[in-house]
Amino acid sequence: MKLHQALGLFGLFNVCIVSAAQPSTDLKNTTTDSMFQLSSDDDFHFELLRVMSLAPYEGADIGEVLVAAKKIDPGNFESFSNAFFDLATRVDETARNIDKEKHPVSARNALFRASSYYRSADFFLHGNWSDPRINSLWDKQLNAFDTAMALLPVPGKRVNLQAEDGNFTIPVIFFGTGLTGPRPTLLMCNGYDGSQEEMYHLIGKAALERGINVITYEGPGQPAVRRGQNIGFIPEWERVVSPVVDFAIEHPEVDSEAIGLMGYSFGGYLAPRAAAFDKRIAAVFAVDGVYDFGKSLLYQFPQELKEVFYSGDADTFNSIIEAAVAEPSTDTIMRWGVQQGMWSFNVKTPFEWMTKALAYNLTDVADKIQQPIFIGDAQLEKFFPGQAKMLADAIGSNALYRLFTADEGAGEHCSIGASVLQSQVLLDWFEDVLSKARE
Ligand SMILES: *[C@@H]1O[C@H](CO)[C@@H](O)[C@H](O)[C@H]1NC(C)=O
Ligand SMILES: *[C@@H]1O[C@H](CO)[C@@H](O)[C@H](O)[C@H]1NC(C)=O
Ligand SMILES: *[C@@H]1O[C@H](CO)[C@@H](O)[C@H](O)[C@H]1NC(C)=O
Ligand SMILES: *[C@@H]1O[C@H](CO)[C@@H](O)[C@H](O)[C@H]1NC(C)=O
Repeated sequence: MKLHQALGLFGLFNVCIVSAAQPSTDLKNTTTDSMFQLSSDDDFHFELLRVMSLAPYEGADIGEVLVAAKKIDPGNFESFSNAFFDLATRVDETARNIDKEKHPVSARNALFRASSYYRSADFFLHGNWSDPRINSLWDKQLNAFDTAMALLPVPGKRVNLQAEDGNFTIPVIFFGTGLTGPRPTLLMCNGYDGSQEEMYHLIGKAALERGINVITYEGPGQPAVRRGQNIGFIPEWERVVSPVVDFAIEHPEVDSEAIGLMGYSFGGYLAPRAAAFDKRIAAVFAVDGVYDFGKSLLYQFPQELKEVFYSGDADTFNSIIEAAVAEPSTDTIMRWGVQQGMWSFNVKTPFEWMTKALAYNLTDVADKIQQPIFIGDAQLEKFFPGQAKMLADAIGSNALYRLFTADEGAGEHCSIGASVLQSQVLLDWFEDVLSKARE
């Protein structure tokens, strides 16, 4: 295909992505103005809300995030990174000047915030794999987090587990409640881009407050494993989760009959997939549910581009997507989505990314999920519209489908911004499922 033809398609593509907000089906509700917008860039709004969402559980403070937000230009990834780097550096310095012996809670609060802001500074940088900040910012976020974690009443403990075939190691953190006796325990991971450190603030701390142990982990494709071991995502997520379950049940404080598995975002595919193969898991959470990851990406493309993909014409497909990503006026969600996708799947071209993505579906697996499963959905879902409902329908009667709405302030992807409400709904369900099982 000639370049002008490719660009013609790209124009169409861009329009399509811009209007990914328009419902082509009745699968999604695209009312976006029910919440005050933090940026005219939809995806920056989402990412800013995501950091603020950590505030109730010690991961952010709202005013300073809003000050950083003011310095960010819509669509400008460098400005997003710089604003959060400046904030992280300032808060980190404040934290390091606090006497940890005298004021351990204050030091911990500030270190956890600094850690979150370093992660935000890294978030939009994965388009250039040679950018040294990808590792340097991560080292800083880990360092701040670990220093904070050591100051918890029950300090979190890091361990590296071996995958069964020895092909990768799984970094985990065990956060105990400090209470006696075997207790319910939640294993949790994020998805396409989030870290285990973020999970602590998103819902980990809320679980600990309820006497539930928390084990966070990361697998291939996720931040620490992608960086430290150079491995992209794998579809067989049970290869990651089963060693974490082995590890959990070794602990006297873990009730081996009361293990929950939670996946956020793309983790809404990963967790159900693993639960289908590991019956030691008593309850599952897909927040939000993802049934067919690859198709949900592909369906956001215009018909012509889908046809190019299915024809196997990798060069044309790549040149269209690469041109769109290089064009600053393309929507952030699309530019970032492709860059993060290639980085986290550890592939060099959009065609390879899309090809790999298609293996992440639960078509032949959904009926093997026999545990009670909580499937969250978001009324304003922009990443995986319609997927949660499809997963719930495929699983059937052991699925609890819950739509979080815009009116609740919980209509964004993963109900970001509503972590207190979300913790209430999810963790109450977990406790109820466990008490029912004990009857
Ligand atoms: C990627 O980052 C490296 C290191 O900062 C830099 O030398 C290079 O020019 C960047 N490449 C692009 C395409 O921006
Ligand atoms: C583990 O790594 C080896 C060597 O790279 C490879 O041959 C094998 O296929 C991998 N196993 C799995 C299950 O991916
Ligand atoms: C679903 O994933 C499997 C591999 O896990 C793959 O063989 C199959 O082609 C995928 N289905 C679709 C419809 O893409
Ligand atoms: C979309 O969401 C808005 C805000 O919650 C609500 O008022 C409206 O009824 C919804 N529309 C549909 C079609 O669900």
